[in-house]
Amino acid sequence: MSTNNGSHTGGDKNFWRNKRVDNYDAIQTILSEKKAVEQENIARIINYFCDLYQIDNPSILDIGCGPGTPITLTRYILEKVPECSLVGADGSEEMIAKFNDTLSSAYGGRFSGLVSDFNSDRFWEHEINRKFDFVISSSALHYLSDQRRKPFFREVYEHLSDRGVFIAGIGLRADNHTIEEMEQTFRFEFTFNKMKEAGRATNFTDFRHSAETKEAQAKINWQSSDVWLSSIRDAGFSGAEIVWQVWVRSIFLAVK
Ligand SMILES: C[S@@+](CC[C@H](N)C(=O)[O-])C[C@H]1O[C@@H](n2cnc3c(N)ncnc32)[C@H](O)[C@@H]1O
Repeated sequence: MSTNNGSHTGGDKNFWRNKRVDNYDAIQTILSEKKAVEQENIARIINYFCDLYQIDNPSILDIGCGPGTPITLTRYILEKVPECSLVGADGSEEMIAKFNDTLSSAYGGRFSGLVSDFNSDRFWEHEINRKFDFVISSSALHYLSDQRRKPFFREVYEHLSDRGVFIAGIGLRADNHTIEEMEQTFRFEFTFNKMKEAGRATNFTDFRHSAETKEAQAKINWQSSDVWLSSIRDAGFSGAEIVWQVWVRSIFLAVK
């Protein structure tokens, strides 16, 4: 599961198509423990810094924004940071088509969506080639390739305003193999229990084997908290910390 040899090419963008877009909310509900708490905390951090720096109409870039459906970070932020404007960028054309379609009736004028691949050094083009008050992300940056990780965080730094803030929920693994295995077991148990309640799984070992096979297609680049933090800190931020964690996922916060 771990890859630390510098050769991971990042997530497979083609994973994010068809039923993974159509059934996004149902799938995330059984996969992502405490997703709502993560979003609540990201909104809380944005509102905290808006008060601290007296930002009235924050501009926000959400990287790997997904389909804009009720379970997504974008939707939560548009609700809880009412004066903000938000650009969503995602590598999947289907995700962005749904993003624009889903959000337009309720939030038209406050958002736009752009297809762009963060594993390309041409990521920052068109409407995201500017500075933002906040760059945010949830459950997407563990698809960064090894090669892009360091340059990408430098680019995030450069695309933040003078007192800009970076807030990202990123998947991670423990350095210690025994602890890593425990956290991964807890992650799979969360989904198994949901499936069991729905009568869709009975045996944990079989379920985990099948879930790991499917997930391998996404090509998550599991890295430790040290790797993520040092890559973010090396970008030039004055400070970067983990401010919240649930097993294999943490919120990283970085300030200029
Ligand atoms: C688990 S979803 C998270 C969506 C959303 N942030 C949320 O709150 O639910 C991961 C998203 O990352 C996007 N993604 C994966 N690899 C990407 C890449 N190389 N460039 C841009 N987006 C990517 C996928 O298309 C997908 O929409």
